[in-house]
Amino acid sequence: MSPSPLTCCINPSILSADFANLESELARISNADAVHVDVMDNSFVPNLTIGLPVVERLQKVSPVPLDAHLMISDADRWAPLYADAGLSSVTFHVEAAMAPIKLARELRARGAKAGMALRPATPVESYLDMLSELDMLLLMTVEPGFGGQAFLDVVLPKIRRAREAVDGSGVSVAIQVDGGITEETILRAAEAGANVFVAGSAVYGKPSPSEAIEALRTNGQLALASNNPRKA
Ligand code: DX5
Ligand code: ZN
Repeated sequence: MSPSPLTCCINPSILSADFANLESELARISNADAVHVDVMDNSFVPNLTIGLPVVERLQKVSPVPLDAHLMISDADRWAPLYADAGLSSVTFHVEAAMAPIKLARELRARGAKAGMALRPATPVESYLDMLSELDMLLLMTVEPGFGGQAFLDVVLPKIRRAREAVDGSGVSVAIQVDGGITEETILRAAEAGANVFVAGSAVYGKPSPSEAIEALRTNGQLALASNNPRKA
């Protein structure tokens, strides 16, 4: 049986937005599928952004659902609190979680989609047996920590293997890519099997973020539609 066509989602990252004006920055991307919120603690990654109090306020004012990407240590303790804040999707790093299956279950029990992220060099094979516990697998296409880095093509084979495993398992797990996504690299990532695309500088670095979202969406949909055996 052929898998059903994949839905292409464009999730702009507010890491490249104006942090002094987040509410109006969110209004500029109201045509996005979700807003990607990068939470960094200067421990798991060498950078510091925003934490729970700010994310709770964003949740209240955002016109689009929130997709949190937690680049923080002690994910087991903190991630459930983001689910409690009402976020649509909460993604923790497997490298920062003591008990990823327990944590994924806890996120779902608290009403959020459960996402799990892997650094570029973390193999996906160890986690394929827990796909049914996840709503999303985030395969980082740069080392986490900073926006504006170049897309790592070396991750493409991992995306391909993850897509094969997801399709083969029959469960519905989105494959998100994050880092260096542009109108050009989105074609390769989608061809490999990703269907949720995070873009920071390629959206907020443009004069019209909403037009940038549509340009990315067009290319992502094109590449997904030309994927065999999926025909949109
Ligand atoms: C990096 C963050 C990304 C980042 C992407 O650690 O997780 O979400 O904002 O930025 P670009 O699209 O500029 O690579
Ligand atoms: Zn991110």
